[in-house]
Amino acid sequence: MQLPEVQLAVLEAASATEKRTIAQLAAETGEETTTLTGAAFDLAEEGLIEIEEREKDSLELTPEGRTYREEGLPELRLYRVAKEAGATETAASMGEVIGAADLKGKAVDIALSNFARKEYGKIDSGELSANAEADPDADEEAGAIEAIAAGGAGDVAPPVLDRLVERGLAERSQRTERAVTLTEEGVTALMEGIEAADTVGRLTPELLASGEWHDVEFRTYDVEADADRTYGGRTHVLRETAERVKDVLIGMGFEEMDGPHADADFWINDALFMPQDHPARTHWDRFALSEPAEIDDLPEELVERVENAHREGVGEDGEGYHSPWSAEFARQLALRGHTTSLSMRYLSGEAIGDLEPPQRYFSVEKVYRNDTLDATHLLEFFQIEGWVMAEDLSVRDLMGTFTEFYERFGITDIEFKPHYNPYTEPSFELFGTHPVTGELIEIGNSGLFRDEVLRPLGVECDVMAWGLALERLAMLTTGAEDIRDLHGTLADLDFLRNAEVSY
Ligand code: PHE
Repeated sequence: MQLPEVQLAVLEAASATEKRTIAQLAAETGEETTTLTGAAFDLAEEGLIEIEEREKDSLELTPEGRTYREEGLPELRLYRVAKEAGATETAASMGEVIGAADLKGKAVDIALSNFARKEYGKIDSGELSANAEADPDADEEAGAIEAIAAGGAGDVAPPVLDRLVERGLAERSQRTERAVTLTEEGVTALMEGIEAADTVGRLTPELLASGEWHDVEFRTYDVEADADRTYGGRTHVLRETAERVKDVLIGMGFEEMDGPHADADFWINDALFMPQDHPARTHWDRFALSEPAEIDDLPEELVERVENAHREGVGEDGEGYHSPWSAEFARQLALRGHTTSLSMRYLSGEAIGDLEPPQRYFSVEKVYRNDTLDATHLLEFFQIEGWVMAEDLSVRDLMGTFTEFYERFGITDIEFKPHYNPYTEPSFELFGTHPVTGELIEIGNSGLFRDEVLRPLGVECDVMAWGLALERLAMLTTGAEDIRDLHGTLADLDFLRNAEVSY
């Protein structure tokens, strides 16, 4: 009988009376476990061995755990230096010991808290004393780290392992352990003698050029064999959500708008009947441009009508703000804080000419706000802007549109809350329930544009409009609990690789 070399090695290392794990075979033969697993499956197919599978919990060191294995646990480094500095006799300055132990950043806190927890000593008003009885060489956690690295964590007390996992130094995972035994046929085949056949896994240019491919035996594919997971690229969850949003809105009859990220305050605020002394228009809230600082082409007549609405209001009973209004201020440039600036450009006819009702438009674009970064706020995020222009619209139309839109993402429990916007009346905010935390999170803001907005733009019918947060929608569809897991420097790669966008 002829068998490929690896298969022969597996057969020779296997026993008829004792199970041998793939890991043991790897240690014996020096072959990769993936290669051996493949060979074992081939042999099992031939009936020469039997494979038994078992799910096994395994522990692995995290990158932090591996670093400490090399450099020593921070608390042990602290203890050793403290002892050298005589802190077992008289308390030493904590700052000096930390400096001498070369501990920096978060390692300092880690060292201090574990130092105290494991009773390597005490810290009292900046002084550190070391416990003369303690023995860093017998540290259970350091021992466990070594044991895990050597693949022998089985002998370590479970609470110690739990501790390492809690400290983020080790990670549990499940893997399949396979063990092989020789079958009777396997034993017989071995006794009759097996020759190693040269098998080739890949057809190379060399094999083709030399003609050797005529004579070699090719290894067969085993599509069921375990293989290492390799991660290629994939569309970012947020991009996937954005694409889906676009598809849904286009399916609902909307057309897409685009326009400048940096725009005149006129389009971002004035056209929206936002008074020029509104708190959101101070330098606190906006990212102003200094070069160029202002736009030079605003439609003159429109500016005049908008100014007039601010001063006098619109219609016979119109009431304006009677507050200062300057065209100079309206020309200032800033990064848009909402994409409602695009809606203004489109509704006014400035973007693509005058529009006759009915019309539906949307955009899924970046906006910029000088917010404080936290679990639900980013300084730049994507807004799903949209509006519908028609003869007779009411809040019911708005609610119905949202209900339909969010249903496409499996979200059926949208809640509405009355709200105030200078540019819409009535206005309401939208809330959704986070699938993991159960918390109600704000996902959008909406309303019917006021006459003070529409009339100067030259729109005579009704317009309902909204700004929804794409990241918040993604939190609801993926279960992400922190917006920073989605994008930015702290984004969780594991999450991005595996997250499913549900809809
Ligand atoms: N511009 C609002 C925001 O940023 C959203 C909105 C748009 C509300 C249009 C009403 C009408 O939150």
